[in-house]
Amino acid sequence: MALSPLLSLLPLLLLLLLEVPGAARASPREALPEGAAACKAGGLCLQTPLRRAAAPPVNVSLYYEALCPGCRAFLIRELFPTWLMVLEILNVTLVPYGNAQERNVSGKWEFTCQHGLEECKLNKVEACLWDQLERDAAFLTIVCIEEMDDMQANLKPCLQIYAPKVSPDAIMECAMGDRGSQLLHINAQLTDALQPPHEYVPWVVVNGKPMKDESQLLYLVCQLYQGEKPAVCRLTASSHREVCFK
Ligand SMILES: *[C@@H]1O[C@H](CO)[C@@H](O)[C@H](O)[C@H]1NC(C)=O
Ligand SMILES: *[C@@H]1O[C@H](CO)[C@@H](O)[C@H](O)[C@H]1NC(C)=O
Ligand SMILES: *[C@@H]1O[C@H](CO)[C@@H](O)[C@H](O)[C@H]1NC(C)=O
Repeated sequence: MALSPLLSLLPLLLLLLLEVPGAARASPREALPEGAAACKAGGLCLQTPLRRAAAPPVNVSLYYEALCPGCRAFLIRELFPTWLMVLEILNVTLVPYGNAQERNVSGKWEFTCQHGLEECKLNKVEACLWDQLERDAAFLTIVCIEEMDDMQANLKPCLQIYAPKVSPDAIMECAMGDRGSQLLHINAQLTDALQPPHEYVPWVVVNGKPMKDESQLLYLVCQLYQGEKPAVCRLTASSHREVCFK
């Protein structure tokens, strides 16, 4: 079996993650929320995310489906880098379901997904990760598997990096069982309740409004945040005017 070339990105991802607490440490001590323990050198510190309480975070919800290439591109190339840069002002919600459909078949929800049964299964895997893991760990694990060609086979190594206490078997059991269907049904309701309704995937909602230009996420988040902006926002503000490829 050929190994995905993306597997070679794993160490890089891990390094990026190790950079996060390092960068956070550079901010003043008083910015630490109460109860957040200082990161130990080399620790992943996922359990103690640094959140400034100054202003409410910007809500970014991604309505997507596990196998849609545009969704994967947005998640990996826009949402993940934005999260790495300004996680302290972001509240990310992932809603895997997208253009799927559901039917009540004698009391059980059955799903039809745009990219087939495999996608329905992976949507459930990601819904279960979102349900069972701490938020940051769930986000990182989902990004990790979405980067891989064989997502299910990579659930185990991805969990080992970001949530080593969670067994891949427990996640698969959730995904294949009633809980997985229940979670996907909740996502169906969230997706169907969108106002305005979603027109395509990925559908990105920022502070309740659909975002049409998906390549400007960092800029938009920086603009919407009402508190003191992270340093990286000043960089986007000055470079944004010069960016004009269209
Ligand atoms: C983050 O988003 C979730 C789901 O969209 C919401 O329930 C929660 O209240 C939000 N948290 C904050 C701090 O806005
Ligand atoms: C689903 O169908 C069953 C019987 O076929 C019915 O009893 C139940 O109320 C339905 N549930 C919903 C939410 O429509
Ligand atoms: C984010 O979503 C939560 C829950 O819906 C809401 O209470 C909060 O006001 C939203 N934050 C912003 C900045 O819109």
